[in-house]
Amino acid sequence: MTDVLKNDRFLRALRREPTDTTPIWVMRQAGRYLPEYRATRERAGSFMGLAQNPEYACEVTLQPLERFELDAAILFSDILTIPDAMGLGLSFAHGEGPQFARPVRNAADITKLAVPDMDGELRYVMDAVRLIRQELHGRVPLIGFSGSPWTLACYMVEGAGSRDFATLKTMCWNEPKLAHQLLDTLAQSVAAYLIAQAAAGAQALMIFDTWGGLLGPAPFREFSLRYMAQIVAALKADTHARELPVILFSKGAGQHLAEMADTGCAALGVDWTMNLADARRAVAGKVALQGNLDPAVMRASPEVIRREARAVLDSYGNHPGHMFNLGHGITPEVDPEHVKVLVDEVHAYGRALRS
Ligand code: CP3
Repeated sequence: MTDVLKNDRFLRALRREPTDTTPIWVMRQAGRYLPEYRATRERAGSFMGLAQNPEYACEVTLQPLERFELDAAILFSDILTIPDAMGLGLSFAHGEGPQFARPVRNAADITKLAVPDMDGELRYVMDAVRLIRQELHGRVPLIGFSGSPWTLACYMVEGAGSRDFATLKTMCWNEPKLAHQLLDTLAQSVAAYLIAQAAAGAQALMIFDTWGGLLGPAPFREFSLRYMAQIVAALKADTHARELPVILFSKGAGQHLAEMADTGCAALGVDWTMNLADARRAVAGKVALQGNLDPAVMRASPEVIRREARAVLDSYGNHPGHMFNLGHGITPEVDPEHVKVLVDEVHAYGRALRS
C-alpha cells in the first residue's frame, strides 16, 4: 500500500494546497444511474449481496472511474452496515428504501447493542477496502466513510426511512439519557469502523450526517455535532487514522459550519442551499469545502450543467481548498453523459480560474 498516487489533486485540495485544477468526485458516483452498476447488482441478487461481496464492491467502485476523469474513488458500501452488524436485520426492497427487521425502541433494545467486530461482522468492508486499494494501483485516492451517529440512530429507531424521523426525536425529548446511550455506542462503533478502514487502506474519511439538518440549533449540537466531534477526537488519537483528512457533511446544517469547522476535521461538505462564498467566510480558512451543485441540475441540459458548474466554481473563487461535488447524491434518472459534461467542465474551468 505504498504505491505513489498518480493523481493527488483531491488530497492536496483537502490540505488546502494549490492544485492545477479543481478536483471532483460525485456522491453516489457508483449507483443506479450507471447501466453497468445495474447489471452487477442484478448478478449480485440484492443490494446487500453487492455490498457484502468484496469483488462486486470493488467492481462497482471502479465503474465510474472507467467512464469519467474523477479525482477520487469512494468505497462502495452503505452507512447502514453498522446497524446491520449490530443485528438489526437490514434489507432493501426493490425500489424502496432501507428497512430493519428489528428496530431499537426501548432501554432493553439499546442496552443489548455492542460495538461490532471489525474483523468479524464487518470484515467484508475492510476486505473491500484492501481489494479496491490494490486494484486502483494509485490512480486516485480512496475515500472510506460512515454515517454519523445521529443519522444511523434515525434509521435504527424508525426502522426505515422517514420524512421527519419523529420516533428518534420523541426519544430525544422524552428519554434523553436513552438517546445519548444509543448515540454513544454508535460513536464508539463509527470511530472503530473508520480506524479499521484507515488501517485497511482508505486515504480520506467522510462522515455522512444526512439528517443533522432535521434538528434545531441546540439539539443539533447536543445530539449530532457532539458525537461527530467525539469521533474526530478518537481518530486523532489513533497513530494511523490521525494522518487521514476527515470530511464532515451535515445536510441542511449550513448555519452550523463555523462550529463544525472547530471539531478538527479537514473539510466540510456543503449542500446546495448555501453559497460557497458565504460558507468560506463562515469557516474563516480553517477547513476545505466540498460541494455544492444542486443534484437536480444534473437532469437539465448540458449547457445548463456547464453554466451552473461554473457558477459554483466562481462562488468559491481562485483559492485553494475546494473539492467539487454535488450538494447531495446523484439520482438514478441522470444520464451518465451529463456526468462526463460536468467532470470535464469542472476541470477545464477550474484550470481557467487559476490562470
Ligand atoms: O457515494 C458512493 O458512490 C458510495 C456508496 C454509498 C451508498 N450509500 C450506496 C448505495 C454511500 C456513500 C451511501 C451512503 C448512504 N446510505 C447515506 C448517506 C448519504 C446520503 O445519500 O444521504 C444514506 C442516508 C444511506 C442509506 C440508504 N442506502 C438509503 C436511504 C438507500 C435507498 C435510497 C436510495 O437512494 O437508493 C440506500 C441504498 C443505496 N446505497 C444504493 C446505493 C448505490 C441504491 C440501492 C440499490 O442499488 O438499489
